[in-house]
Amino acid sequence: MKILILNGPNLNLLGRREPSIYGNLTFDEFFKGLKNKYNTIELTYYQSNVEGEIIDKLHEVGFSIDGIILNAGAYTHTSIAIGDAIKGIETPVIEVHISNVQAREEFRHISYIAPNAKGVIAGFGLQSYELAIQSFL
Ligand code: DQA
Repeated sequence: MKILILNGPNLNLLGRREPSIYGNLTFDEFFKGLKNKYNTIELTYYQSNVEGEIIDKLHEVGFSIDGIILNAGAYTHTSIAIGDAIKGIETPVIEVHISNVQAREEFRHISYIAPNAKGVIAGFGLQSYELAIQSFL
């Protein structure tokens, strides 16, 4: 089982960015724990602040691996291009968010990912990623 966690803009700042919303843990620390816990899965991680690089990564892995867990950050709410990329690949994508986007500003209620995703998990902190992994098992 091969799963990629793909994080979009500003998620490289996890641990330092608005900790009251996103927590104190860096993604690298969290990812180490996930790799240990799910050591039978080939789990990889990629982060980019650049919309085109996220699309390139979706194209690169989207015909060969079993699952993609995507937190597109603010691109979730703006990027028709990422939505189209998900439509164009074969690997199922789960949209995840650390925060409960539906309980925040109205502009975060829109998602260009969700209509093309297998499902959406939001609001469980970093555990949202783990719930997404479990959904593939
Ligand atoms: C986020 C929610 C987005 O609205 C925001 O732009 C992010 C993080 C989340 O994980 O809660 O960057 O995707």
